[in-house]
Amino acid sequence: MELTDSNIAILGAGNLGIAIAQGIVEEQLKEAGQICLTRRNLDHVGYLKAKGFQVSSNNLEAVKQAKMVLLCVQPKQLPRLLEQINPGLTKDHLLVSVITGVSIAEIKSHLNVEVPVVRAMPNTAIAIGESMTCICSEDSKDDALAVQKIFNALGKTLIIEEKLMQAATVLGASGIAFFMRYLRAATQGGVQMGFHSEDAQMIAVQTAKGAASLILENGQHPEVEIDKVTTPEGCTIAGLNEMEHQGLSSALIKGLMVSYEKIKNIK
Ligand SMILES: NC(=O)c1ccc[n+]([C@@H]2O[C@H](COP(=O)([O-])OP(=O)(O)OC[C@H]3O[C@@H](n4cnc5c(N)ncnc54)[C@H](OP(=O)(O)O)[C@@H]3O)[C@@H](O)[C@H]2O)c1
Repeated sequence: MELTDSNIAILGAGNLGIAIAQGIVEEQLKEAGQICLTRRNLDHVGYLKAKGFQVSSNNLEAVKQAKMVLLCVQPKQLPRLLEQINPGLTKDHLLVSVITGVSIAEIKSHLNVEVPVVRAMPNTAIAIGESMTCICSEDSKDDALAVQKIFNALGKTLIIEEKLMQAATVLGASGIAFFMRYLRAATQGGVQMGFHSEDAQMIAVQTAKGAASLILENGQHPEVEIDKVTTPEGCTIAGLNEMEHQGLSSALIKGLMVSYEKIKNIK
Protein backbone atom coordinates (compact mmCIF):
# COMPACT_ATOMS: atom_id res chain seq x y z
CA MET A 1 0.00 0.00 0.00
CA GLU A 2 1.31 3.49 -0.71
CA LEU A 3 1.22 6.72 1.24
CA THR A 4 -2.36 7.86 1.01
CA ASP A 5 -4.62 10.55 2.36
CA SER A 6 -7.26 7.99 3.15
CA ASN A 7 -5.30 6.09 5.83
CA ILE A 8 -4.46 7.26 9.33
CA ALA A 9 -1.80 5.71 11.57
CA ILE A 10 -2.32 5.99 15.31
CA LEU A 11 0.93 5.10 17.05
CA GLY A 12 0.31 4.19 20.68
CA ALA A 13 -3.07 2.51 21.02
CA GLY A 14 -3.69 3.39 24.66
CA ASN A 15 -6.59 5.30 26.26
CA LEU A 16 -6.40 8.31 24.00
CA GLY A 17 -5.30 6.60 20.78
CA ILE A 18 -8.17 4.11 20.97
CA ALA A 19 -10.71 6.81 21.89
CA ILE A 20 -9.64 8.89 18.88
CA ALA A 21 -9.81 5.88 16.54
CA GLN A 22 -13.27 4.91 17.75
CA GLY A 23 -14.50 8.48 17.51
CA ILE A 24 -13.24 8.83 13.93
CA VAL A 25 -15.16 5.70 12.90
CA GLU A 26 -18.29 6.59 14.87
CA GLU A 27 -18.37 9.99 13.19
CA GLN A 28 -17.87 8.24 9.82
CA LEU A 29 -14.74 10.23 8.92
CA LYS A 30 -12.99 6.95 8.09
CA GLU A 31 -13.76 3.27 8.03
CA ALA A 32 -12.08 1.12 10.67
CA GLY A 33 -9.98 -0.58 8.00
CA GLN A 34 -8.40 2.78 7.08
CA ILE A 35 -6.99 3.21 10.58
CA CYS A 36 -3.86 1.40 11.73
CA LEU A 37 -3.38 1.28 15.49
CA THR A 38 -0.03 0.26 16.91
CA ARG A 39 1.27 -0.78 20.29
CA ARG A 40 3.96 -3.16 21.49
CA ASN A 41 1.62 -5.53 23.29
CA LEU A 42 -1.15 -6.48 20.89
CA ASP A 43 -3.02 -8.63 23.44
CA HIS A 44 -4.97 -5.55 24.52
CA VAL A 45 -6.23 -4.60 21.07
CA GLY A 46 -7.58 -7.91 19.73
CA TYR A 47 -11.13 -6.57 20.10
CA LEU A 48 -10.24 -3.65 17.81
CA LYS A 49 -9.00 -6.04 15.15
CA ALA A 50 -12.33 -7.85 15.45
CA LYS A 51 -14.04 -4.51 14.79
CA GLY A 52 -12.10 -4.14 11.53
CA PHE A 53 -9.22 -1.85 12.58
CA GLN A 54 -5.73 -2.67 11.41
CA VAL A 55 -3.60 -3.42 14.48
CA SER A 56 0.15 -3.82 14.41
CA SER A 57 3.30 -3.55 16.47
CA ASN A 58 5.25 -2.33 13.45
CA ASN A 59 5.28 1.47 13.63
CA LEU A 60 7.45 1.87 10.54
CA GLU A 61 5.06 -0.11 8.33
CA ALA A 62 2.09 1.83 9.71
CA VAL A 63 3.81 5.11 8.83
CA LYS A 64 4.58 3.95 5.31
CA GLN A 65 0.86 3.45 4.65
CA ALA A 66 -0.60 6.70 6.01
CA LYS A 67 -0.12 10.38 5.36
CA MET A 68 -1.48 11.49 8.74
CA VAL A 69 0.35 9.94 11.67
CA LEU A 70 -0.90 10.48 15.22
CA LEU A 71 1.65 10.17 18.02
CA CYS A 72 -0.24 8.96 21.11
CA VAL A 73 2.46 7.48 23.38
CA GLN A 74 3.61 8.75 26.77
CA PRO A 75 6.22 11.54 26.66
CA LYS A 76 9.07 9.26 27.78
CA GLN A 77 8.17 6.73 25.05
CA LEU A 78 8.42 9.30 22.26
CA PRO A 79 12.18 9.31 21.47
CA ARG A 80 12.17 5.52 20.88
CA LEU A 81 9.05 5.78 18.72
CA LEU A 82 10.50 8.57 16.58
CA GLU A 83 13.70 6.58 16.19
CA GLN A 84 11.64 3.67 14.83
CA ILE A 85 9.62 5.72 12.31
CA ASN A 86 12.38 8.08 11.16
CA PRO A 87 13.41 5.92 8.16
CA GLY A 88 9.85 5.94 6.80
CA LEU A 89 9.01 9.63 7.26
CA THR A 90 8.82 11.98 4.27
CA LYS A 91 7.96 15.65 3.84
CA ASP A 92 4.50 14.50 2.66
CA HIS A 93 3.59 13.08 6.06
CA LEU A 94 1.76 15.08 8.68
CA LEU A 95 2.70 14.24 12.25
CA VAL A 96 0.07 15.01 14.86
CA SER A 97 1.19 14.82 18.48
CA VAL A 98 -1.24 14.64 21.39
CA ILE A 99 1.67 14.21 23.79
CA THR A 100 1.60 16.49 26.80
CA GLY A 101 4.44 18.94 27.23
CA VAL A 102 6.54 18.06 24.17
CA SER A 103 7.02 21.01 21.83
CA ILE A 104 6.96 20.94 18.04
CA ALA A 105 10.65 21.99 18.04
CA GLU A 106 11.53 19.09 20.34
CA ILE A 107 9.74 16.57 18.11
CA LYS A 108 11.43 17.98 15.03
CA SER A 109 14.83 17.77 16.70
CA HIS A 110 14.47 13.95 16.58
CA LEU A 111 13.57 13.81 12.87
CA ASN A 112 15.90 13.22 9.94
CA VAL A 113 13.64 14.94 7.40
CA GLU A 114 11.58 18.13 7.53
CA VAL A 115 8.09 16.86 8.38
CA PRO A 116 5.21 19.16 9.31
CA VAL A 117 4.16 18.68 12.93
CA VAL A 118 0.86 19.72 14.51
CA ARG A 119 0.08 19.44 18.21
CA ALA A 120 -3.40 18.64 19.46
CA MET A 121 -4.52 18.63 23.09
CA PRO A 122 -7.83 16.78 23.47
CA ASN A 123 -9.38 15.52 26.68
CA THR A 124 -10.82 12.15 27.65
CA ALA A 125 -14.35 13.19 26.63
CA ILE A 126 -13.09 12.50 23.12
CA ALA A 127 -14.31 8.94 23.74
CA ILE A 128 -17.90 10.21 23.51
CA GLY A 129 -17.31 12.92 20.88
CA GLU A 130 -17.35 15.74 23.45
CA SER A 131 -13.68 16.70 23.65
CA MET A 132 -12.35 20.23 23.83
CA THR A 133 -9.29 20.04 21.62
CA CYS A 134 -6.75 22.85 21.25
CA ILE A 135 -4.56 22.67 18.16
CA CYS A 136 -1.37 24.47 17.12
CA SER A 137 1.09 24.27 14.24
CA GLU A 138 4.11 26.28 13.31
CA ASP A 139 4.37 25.36 9.64
CA SER A 140 1.12 26.00 7.83
CA LYS A 141 -2.43 26.94 8.67
CA ASP A 142 -3.57 24.22 6.23
CA ASP A 143 -1.97 21.53 8.39
CA ALA A 144 -3.78 22.79 11.48
CA LEU A 145 -7.03 22.93 9.50
CA ALA A 146 -6.61 19.33 8.30
CA VAL A 147 -6.17 18.20 11.88
CA GLN A 148 -9.01 20.42 13.06
CA LYS A 149 -11.32 18.62 10.63
CA ILE A 150 -10.67 15.34 12.43
CA PHE A 151 -11.07 16.74 15.93
CA ASN A 152 -14.13 18.83 14.99
CA ALA A 153 -15.96 15.56 14.61
CA LEU A 154 -14.92 14.61 18.14
CA GLY A 155 -16.05 17.71 20.01
CA LYS A 156 -15.11 21.37 19.85
CA THR A 157 -11.77 22.72 18.68
CA LEU A 158 -9.72 25.87 18.88
CA ILE A 159 -6.55 26.73 16.98
CA ILE A 160 -4.14 28.45 19.36
CA GLU A 161 -0.52 29.60 19.53
CA GLU A 162 1.89 26.96 20.77
CA LYS A 163 2.87 29.12 23.75
CA LEU A 164 -0.68 28.57 25.11
CA MET A 165 -0.56 24.78 24.78
CA GLN A 166 0.37 24.15 28.42
CA ALA A 167 -2.43 26.44 29.60
CA ALA A 168 -4.79 24.54 27.28
CA THR A 169 -3.65 21.27 28.86
CA VAL A 170 -4.51 22.50 32.35
CA LEU A 171 -7.81 24.13 31.45
CA GLY A 172 -9.05 21.51 28.97
CA ALA A 173 -7.40 18.16 29.72
CA SER A 174 -6.82 18.39 33.50
CA GLY A 175 -10.10 20.31 33.58
CA ILE A 176 -11.98 17.02 33.29
CA ALA A 177 -10.58 15.99 36.69
CA PHE A 178 -11.40 19.37 38.22
CA PHE A 179 -15.04 19.22 37.12
CA MET A 180 -15.28 15.59 38.28
CA ARG A 181 -14.23 16.67 41.75
CA TYR A 182 -16.98 19.30 41.75
CA LEU A 183 -19.48 16.59 40.76
CA ARG A 184 -18.32 14.34 43.56
CA ALA A 185 -18.60 17.11 46.12
CA ALA A 186 -22.06 18.12 44.89
CA THR A 187 -23.16 14.47 45.10
CA GLN A 188 -21.89 14.22 48.68
CA GLY A 189 -23.82 17.37 49.56
CA GLY A 190 -26.93 15.86 47.99
CA VAL A 191 -26.54 12.70 50.07
CA GLN A 192 -26.21 14.76 53.25
CA MET A 193 -29.49 16.48 52.33
CA GLY A 194 -31.27 13.14 51.96
CA PHE A 195 -30.81 11.75 48.44
CA HIS A 196 -29.49 8.30 47.63
CA SER A 197 -26.07 8.76 46.06
CA GLU A 198 -27.13 7.68 42.55
CA ASP A 199 -30.02 10.17 42.59
CA ALA A 200 -27.78 12.92 43.96
CA GLN A 201 -25.21 12.16 41.27
CA MET A 202 -27.79 12.30 38.50
CA ILE A 203 -29.13 15.64 39.73
CA ALA A 204 -25.61 17.08 40.02
CA VAL A 205 -24.45 15.77 36.65
CA GLN A 206 -27.51 16.82 34.64
CA THR A 207 -27.42 20.24 36.32
CA ALA A 208 -23.75 20.66 35.39
CA LYS A 209 -24.56 19.63 31.82
CA GLY A 210 -27.46 22.09 31.73
CA ALA A 211 -25.28 24.92 33.08
CA ALA A 212 -22.58 24.23 30.47
CA SER A 213 -25.19 23.96 27.69
CA LEU A 214 -26.72 27.31 28.64
CA ILE A 215 -23.35 29.00 28.13
CA LEU A 216 -22.57 27.02 24.97
CA GLU A 217 -25.92 27.87 23.40
CA ASN A 218 -26.45 31.44 24.59
CA GLY A 219 -22.80 32.53 24.68
CA GLN A 220 -23.54 34.60 27.81
CA HIS A 221 -21.15 35.40 30.63
CA PRO A 222 -21.76 32.89 33.48
CA GLU A 223 -22.69 35.74 35.81
CA VAL A 224 -25.74 36.54 33.63
CA GLU A 225 -27.06 33.02 34.24
CA ILE A 226 -26.20 33.28 37.96
CA ASP A 227 -28.27 36.48 38.21
CA LYS A 228 -31.28 34.55 36.88
CA VAL A 229 -31.03 32.01 39.72
CA THR A 230 -30.22 34.28 42.64
CA THR A 231 -33.45 35.68 44.09
CA PRO A 232 -32.77 38.60 46.46
CA GLU A 233 -32.41 37.28 50.03
CA GLY A 234 -32.82 33.76 48.60
CA CYS A 235 -31.11 30.47 49.29
CA THR A 236 -28.92 30.49 46.16
CA ILE A 237 -27.16 33.77 46.88
CA ALA A 238 -26.71 32.74 50.51
CA GLY A 239 -25.03 29.50 49.49
CA LEU A 240 -23.01 31.12 46.71
CA ASN A 241 -21.68 33.86 48.95
CA GLU A 242 -20.73 31.29 51.60
CA MET A 243 -18.84 29.30 48.95
CA GLU A 244 -16.98 32.49 48.01
CA HIS A 245 -16.25 33.32 51.67
CA GLN A 246 -14.75 29.83 51.86
CA GLY A 247 -12.60 30.63 48.82
CA LEU A 248 -14.31 28.81 45.92
CA SER A 249 -13.14 31.03 43.03
CA SER A 250 -9.81 31.66 44.70
CA ALA A 251 -9.19 27.92 45.28
CA LEU A 252 -10.08 27.12 41.67
CA ILE A 253 -7.80 29.78 40.20
CA LYS A 254 -4.97 28.87 42.59
CA GLY A 255 -5.37 25.18 41.67
CA LEU A 256 -5.23 25.98 37.96
CA MET A 257 -2.09 28.07 38.48
CA VAL A 258 -0.37 25.32 40.52
CA SER A 259 -1.12 22.84 37.71
CA TYR A 260 0.19 25.36 35.20
CA GLU A 261 3.43 25.93 37.13
CA LYS A 262 3.84 22.16 37.42
CA ILE A 263 3.35 21.48 33.73
CA LYS A 264 5.80 24.24 32.82
CA ASN A 265 8.45 22.48 34.91
CA ILE A 266 7.77 18.91 33.70
CA LYS A 267 10.56 17.72 31.47
N1 LIG B 1 -5.39 10.98 29.05
C1 LIG B 1 -5.58 12.28 28.82
O1 LIG B 1 -6.47 12.97 29.38
C2 LIG B 1 -4.73 12.97 27.82
C3 LIG B 1 -5.19 14.17 27.27
C4 LIG B 1 -4.40 14.81 26.32
C5 LIG B 1 -3.18 14.27 25.98
N2 LIG B 1 -2.73 13.12 26.56
C6 LIG B 1 -1.44 12.57 26.14
O2 LIG B 1 -1.71 11.49 25.29
C7 LIG B 1 -0.67 10.52 25.38
C8 LIG B 1 -1.28 9.16 25.57
O3 LIG B 1 -2.04 9.14 26.76
P1 LIG B 1 -2.84 7.84 27.18
O4 LIG B 1 -3.60 8.19 28.41
O5 LIG B 1 -3.53 7.29 26.00
O6 LIG B 1 -1.59 6.87 27.55
P2 LIG B 1 -1.53 5.26 27.52
O7 LIG B 1 -2.87 4.70 27.80
O8 LIG B 1 -0.37 4.87 28.38
O9 LIG B 1 -1.19 4.94 26.00
C9 LIG B 1 0.09 4.93 25.45
C10 LIG B 1 0.18 3.67 24.60
O10 LIG B 1 1.36 3.73 23.82
C11 LIG B 1 1.79 2.38 23.62
N3 LIG B 1 3.21 2.45 23.27
C12 LIG B 1 4.27 2.74 24.03
N4 LIG B 1 5.41 2.71 23.33
C13 LIG B 1 5.05 2.39 22.06
C14 LIG B 1 5.77 2.22 20.85
N5 LIG B 1 7.10 2.33 20.79
N6 LIG B 1 5.07 1.90 19.75
C15 LIG B 1 3.72 1.76 19.78
N7 LIG B 1 2.98 1.91 20.90
C16 LIG B 1 3.65 2.22 22.02
C17 LIG B 1 1.50 1.68 24.93
O11 LIG B 1 1.19 0.31 24.74
P3 LIG B 1 2.32 -0.83 24.80
O12 LIG B 1 2.98 -0.70 26.13
O13 LIG B 1 1.57 -2.10 24.58
O14 LIG B 1 3.24 -0.50 23.67
C18 LIG B 1 0.23 2.39 25.41
O15 LIG B 1 -0.93 1.64 25.11
C19 LIG B 1 0.22 10.95 26.53
O16 LIG B 1 1.40 11.51 26.01
C20 LIG B 1 -0.58 12.01 27.26
O17 LIG B 1 0.25 13.01 27.78
C21 LIG B 1 -3.50 12.44 27.44
